[in-house]
Amino acid sequence: MALTEEWKEQTSADELIPSLDKSTDEVAWDLYRKAIRFGTWDPAEIDLTQDKADFDSLDDDLKGYLIHFCTGFLDAEENVALKFCPWIMLGSSTEQQAFLSTQLLEEFKHTEFFMRYFSEVFGQARIPGVKNIVQQKLDERIKFMLAALELGPEGREEALVEGLAHYQGIIEGVQAMTGYEVFEAVFRSKGLFPGLAEGFARIKEDEGRHVGFGLRMLKLLARNPEHAKRIRRLFDDYLPHILIRYDQPVMVNGREYPTPPEVRGRERLTKMFERRLKDIFGKANREDFYK
Ligand SMILES: [Fe+2]
Ligand SMILES: [Fe+2]
Repeated sequence: MALTEEWKEQTSADELIPSLDKSTDEVAWDLYRKAIRFGTWDPAEIDLTQDKADFDSLDDDLKGYLIHFCTGFLDAEENVALKFCPWIMLGSSTEQQAFLSTQLLEEFKHTEFFMRYFSEVFGQARIPGVKNIVQQKLDERIKFMLAALELGPEGREEALVEGLAHYQGIIEGVQAMTGYEVFEAVFRSKGLFPGLAEGFARIKEDEGRHVGFGLRMLKLLARNPEHAKRIRRLFDDYLPHILIRYDQPVMVNGREYPTPPEVRGRERLTKMFERRLKDIFGKANREDFYK
């Protein structure tokens, strides 16, 4: 299968969600075993030679855009890696914590890949100031989740529901998945950056397990009407922060670069947001939901 077709298939994440027929512990253990057997790619081994050549001959506008775009990914991967421990700690069984611990390592691998990309392909450090308010909100989120460790099973579950909605639902399920589409539309469709494409393909395989587990949990937990409201409220509260992601000025090393027309950030984000709501609730429409 051509890489482009593979991408499209993987981005339609519906089949990513494991069935609700099995228990959560069985699903978590299956995913843990999958991560042990198949999640073994090495970020240090991806060949970036052609990427360096592609970058050197790229026009200046796209160079600026790619540095900005990859800074967004590096910042996000690193931030979630550094803050992921409370999700593991709130897992309510050995099986769940085992799976979530594979996710922690994988987020560090994704971080390593982008760190390598900056030093070997761009030959510069990431840039400051790429805004992502949903990521910034993880600072409060982890405090709340750590405090919930002192609570009983109900309080822990409430904190976990919101943690899953914030991270697996929105950051991974909406923001990262949209990022893969943007890369495909702006760069991969022109046959550029095979190393970055391979890195994204490997990252997407890992993310398939992360998002699959998270969305299945959210779908299951949303059967409780209180949890359903909690999830929906969080999605609605974050929507304005999500939508501005690709509208911000692309400032790199003191110069502003144009956003390529293929990005269509708002449109892609809105679609992905609705797809995730459908995954969790079976419907995306606000009026339907509050009926
Ligand atoms: Fe990641
Ligand atoms: Fe992830």
